[in-house]
Amino acid sequence: MTHPNTFDVLIIGSGGSGLSLALRLADKAKVLVLSKIALNSGSTYHAQGGISAVLDKNDSIESHIKDTLVAGAGLCDSEAVRVTVEQGKKNIEWLKDQGVKFTQQKSKNGEKSFHLNREGGHSHRRIVHTADATGKELSQTLIERAQAHQNITLLENHNAVDLITNHKDSSTEHKVHGAYVLNTITNKVISISAKIVILATGGASKVYLYSTNPQISTGDGIALAWRAGCRVGNMEFMQFHPTCLYHPKERSFLISEAVRGEGGKLVLPDGSPFMQHYHEKLELAPRDIVARAIDNEIKKHGIECVYLDISHKPADFVREHFPNIYKQCLSLDIDITKQPIPVVPAAHYTCGGVLTDLNARTDIQGLYAIGEVACTGLHGANRMASNSLLECLVFAERAANDILNILPQSVFPPPLPEWDESQVSDSDEEVVVSHNWDELRRFMWDYVGIVRTNKRLNRAMRRLELLKEDIAEYYGTFRVTNDLLELRNLVIVAELIIQSAQLRKESRGLHFTQDYPETDDSKPAENTVLTPNNIH
Ligand code: FAD
Ligand code: SIN
Repeated sequence: MTHPNTFDVLIIGSGGSGLSLALRLADKAKVLVLSKIALNSGSTYHAQGGISAVLDKNDSIESHIKDTLVAGAGLCDSEAVRVTVEQGKKNIEWLKDQGVKFTQQKSKNGEKSFHLNREGGHSHRRIVHTADATGKELSQTLIERAQAHQNITLLENHNAVDLITNHKDSSTEHKVHGAYVLNTITNKVISISAKIVILATGGASKVYLYSTNPQISTGDGIALAWRAGCRVGNMEFMQFHPTCLYHPKERSFLISEAVRGEGGKLVLPDGSPFMQHYHEKLELAPRDIVARAIDNEIKKHGIECVYLDISHKPADFVREHFPNIYKQCLSLDIDITKQPIPVVPAAHYTCGGVLTDLNARTDIQGLYAIGEVACTGLHGANRMASNSLLECLVFAERAANDILNILPQSVFPPPLPEWDESQVSDSDEEVVVSHNWDELRRFMWDYVGIVRTNKRLNRAMRRLELLKEDIAEYYGTFRVTNDLLELRNLVIVAELIIQSAQLRKESRGLHFTQDYPETDDSKPAENTVLTPNNIH
């Protein structure tokens, strides 16, 4: 008989990637899915614009591939792009079969098809969506499906602290055996053992002071993989979404790129447009260009925000297409059918992450990474809008196929060591954690943000060294808590971002530095790959 904490597959994360993988495995495997807080706490739930896929008869796979490569600024892996784009349509069909309801349109002869949004960088209407709350529909549907499956166990309020591997025995292949997990309600750490472990923990945008992301996005999976010995790639490419609502009562609400796709104009406080100074595609230029343009205008004019104006469109059209954004803004006394929306850029997406192959395998045997935590090569130096949920689905499917192939030959790990807290006590100085959280996120925003310089990066690294020492000491002395674990992970992620940014002596995609403002086209573009010291 197996121990109750033993599963065929442990999936850390209950967002779009984790749940779609669980559903694809569950007929043939016992699966445990963990979520740090509620099951819908990930970015998936908040996704607005939708999922890109070639569904329009005038669109083509080649066009979607080309747009993705252009946005990725020379750093996409062409195979990763091809397989993702080619598998888009069947993954949308799979979601439909799971019960996800996408917005439909009727043709003149009464035929129904998916309504497709347009977003920056895409040369066609290509984004399937559920009004402006695609993630909510997707998340709720997958959660319901997973809850109904007898082979899937879902555990909320469980924070994966560290992976357990055989790394002490260097004569054998480096293999994952499970994870230490903190129950954040009881504050007890348990060991969970599994034949296969998947990181589906989302991104790391909470390393910045201003972010569109929910609170769970603290880069845990990247830090766990790094500590266990996996390589990490392209961490300098943190994406800033151009249009986050600017309002003192609501700091993280996204105003979807689809608003610009439907004709929304970016303007200065006096109503004058400015995107014509930056790119021929104006508001629909790639995201890095729009975010930098807004950042530049804000700094140039000494203003707090710019405005996104869709009020020239009929009010019914705006309410029908953007019901969620309309309601949220109205609750803050902004009627978007009549007035422009104050917006600023905010950290949104982690293009880099744990390096994987095309089946989502990492450097450690039995350990996979899918979704935003992974660096598959799809996004290169800049992710194109709505390619992220697509990547979640496609790589979940690819990982599932690979796992189902190897599972019959895989064996359960040996008994795992218990978590040892004999040397630690309860903290009497929680303020150290909250203070360091604030400090880290502020200097990352100020020094490692949309526009970088050598001097700013060096300054950030010096601050980080001090924080690292503080947190290592704290971690070694006190019992773990959710906040401490997140801070410990954020410090690692911040270091990986700064190091990667320091290594790139050019500007490319999302990484822009005033010291090397041009892209270096004198040699083939290279990924930034960091290797931990403890790798076998
Ligand atoms: P997430 O959905 O973020 O889920 C992560 C899961 O991991 C959560 O369940 C969390 O609790 C869990 N977790 C994290 N750490 C731990 C830990 N240590 N232990 C246990 N569990 C843990 N992309 C698009 O393609 N189209 C869009 O329209 C779009 N809109 C967006 C709008 C917003 C506001 C945001 C923030 C992002 C948007 N994105 C969009 C990006 C996209 O939503 C995300 O990249 C994607 O949903 C990530 O899915 P995921 O499964 O990788 O992770
Ligand atoms: C949006 O709706 O603007 C978000 C789309 C994305 O991040 O892909």
